Amino acid sequence: MADKTKMTVMDFKKFKEEGRKFSYVTAYDYTMASIIDESNVEIILVGDSLGMIMLGYSSTTPVTMEDMVHHIRPVVKGAPNTFIVGDTPFGAYQESDEQAVHNAVRLIKETGCDCVKLEGGIEMESRIKAIVNAGILVMGHIGLTPQTATSVGGFKVQGGTTESALKLIEDAKTLERAGVFSMVLEAVPTVVGKAVTEAVKVPVLGIGAGPHVDCQVLVTQDMLGMYGEFKPKFVKQYANIRKVMVDALNDFHKETLSGEFPTPEFSFNKEVTLDKLY
Ligand code: KIV
Repeated sequence: MADKTKMTVMDFKKFKEEGRKFSYVTAYDYTMASIIDESNVEIILVGDSLGMIMLGYSSTTPVTMEDMVHHIRPVVKGAPNTFIVGDTPFGAYQESDEQAVHNAVRLIKETGCDCVKLEGGIEMESRIKAIVNAGILVMGHIGLTPQTATSVGGFKVQGGTTESALKLIEDAKTLERAGVFSMVLEAVPTVVGKAVTEAVKVPVLGIGAGPHVDCQVLVTQDMLGMYGEFKPKFVKQYANIRKVMVDALNDFHKETLSGEFPTPEFSFNKEVTLDKLY
């Protein structure tokens, strides 16, 4: 087990001030969480991307509060030395500040995660203030916001015009004023990633936002080469675990058919008299 100390929001603030980068990946279950806990990665997100990665949906919008609670709990158990973010699913904060506080409290209270994340810019100002006032740490999420991606024409790069880039900077400043301790910035040109990062004092966690952000985020199943459906341009595959798994399954299948498995090494070899059975 790695000698790892769980980070706090004060550490993340200090990292930004000192220009020390950090890293952030997703997990949705106990085993993956415990693997990440053994690594040096500082933050785990139990993202609503679980809808696509774990549940096979074509988007994140059907994910429910119950799905989130169910998946955040085992991650909290598996990664006691890693800061854990619980994502607030679509429909759990859009209605009112009261609904947002109610569901943020649920995520913290029922799972033990360290903070909640929600998507949206200026329009989410009062939701963020309400949750922060309830004593809960909030991570924002601007740029490409998958829960509402259909309304902006699908999974597309955001901030590609001067006007939309300036709007993103305004979103970031508003989120900071509302009290977020950090924010995800997804799928924007490198120059916009830099401008947003420089516009706020809180850490900017970039996914497809170029090299100038404070922290790099990737979906674990993408960067390990496990999720076969789709690979966004910004994903670097650090391993091909899907191939390792399929090869191992085929070896097992082959050895089962040939009788090579199990050898005595994998069998209970105690001698037992069975005459009376016949
Ligand atoms: O749900 C998720 O995995 C996310 C990341 C894309 C940041 O929100």
